[in-house]
Amino acid sequence: MNWDAGAVDTLVQRLALPQPVFVTQPNMPDLGDYHRMLEKIWDRKWLTNDGQFHQEFERRLAAQLKVEHINLFCNGALALLVALQALRINSGEVITTPFTFPATPHVLWWNNIRPVFCDIDPVTYNLDPKGIEQHIRPETRAILPVHVFGTPCDVEAIQAIADRHGLQVIYDAAHAFGVRYKGRSITEHGDLSMLSFHATKLFTSIEGGALVSRSDQLRTRINFLKNFGIANEETVIAPGINGKMNEFQAAFGLLQLDMVDAEIARRAKLTQIYRDGLSGLPGITLAKTPPDVEPNYAYFPMLVDEAKYGASRDELHAALKRFNINSRKYFYPLCSHFPCYAALPSARPENLPVAERVASQVLCLPLYGNLADDAAATLCTIVRELHALLKESPHG
Ligand SMILES: Cc1ncc(COP(=O)(O)O)c(C=O)c1O
Repeated sequence: MNWDAGAVDTLVQRLALPQPVFVTQPNMPDLGDYHRMLEKIWDRKWLTNDGQFHQEFERRLAAQLKVEHINLFCNGALALLVALQALRINSGEVITTPFTFPATPHVLWWNNIRPVFCDIDPVTYNLDPKGIEQHIRPETRAILPVHVFGTPCDVEAIQAIADRHGLQVIYDAAHAFGVRYKGRSITEHGDLSMLSFHATKLFTSIEGGALVSRSDQLRTRINFLKNFGIANEETVIAPGINGKMNEFQAAFGLLQLDMVDAEIARRAKLTQIYRDGLSGLPGITLAKTPPDVEPNYAYFPMLVDEAKYGASRDELHAALKRFNINSRKYFYPLCSHFPCYAALPSARPENLPVAERVASQVLCLPLYGNLADDAAATLCTIVRELHALLKESPHG
């Protein structure tokens, strides 16, 4: 890379955004509305344990997502931890992706399960079904794919493999709120799906999460497990944990439900601005929405190919900071590089060539409803002009 420092300085003076832009920002509900809900919590003096807002949130969420069986949780990671317990997956191996947030393999480790990393698809960045079967051994209990950036996994191929080998499938759908595939919620695939409502997500209850399951029986078991296994005042039927969502989170989530469609629409518009502004730029690969998918526009990932763009992903990431723009290397590094997993045979970089390349090239651009159209358009201009500077450079 050979950016001319003076030329970049001039570009910064011309195009730097006046205020820092972050990679995401929550869409805050009206404070007065939240205050009115807080007053109700104060009056009722019922702060957690299946309170009124919790019940209402669970009901409305199920209706909004058009799913039948849903359990709320205090966060997504605990929901995933409980999902494995609910399906009695607590030994052996589970096949998963290295291109994910640390929570995905960590919940396996916390359940005494060895994660087995499988390579990803170069287009969707999701677990590549073609690689799964070579990892199946007598110890394999389940498959834990992630709908990365809200893009659905190849759910049909994964289910076919699971059925052939008698494996369970749990989806980490942390990014996939509201995503529909062939007209159905993506969370209706597999044995269980986990959603995250963390503050960085498209839809948030501050911290929060949910499990979507297939039967009332499993939903009931999950309800026990997320509350210490307590069945009644004198009966504890399972070694459960505390995964409960409180009333403050549920109230916030209820207000967010009214806002999420508008938030998705705003993000769709910004996504179009990015696509229009960046497509065709050498070395920049934009993600595609697969057929039959209603996306949620939760993230805007792109790949930066240094040989064609002229600068590496890391260099572009650093350069954007000078323009007051915070992008994110998401997901980098791969989970298979963490010291706790790096010694696993499946973590070897030579076994994960696509994931290694994608993690080294991926950059998520800022995307949230309150991001101004102008800021998104300026970002595209900056990325284009930085590329043009490289082409013009006598050393470039
Ligand atoms: C893919 C993925 N899995 C799991 C989690 C964990 O969810 P939470 O933060 O709600 O515990 C997150 C995000 O935070 C995530 O992005």
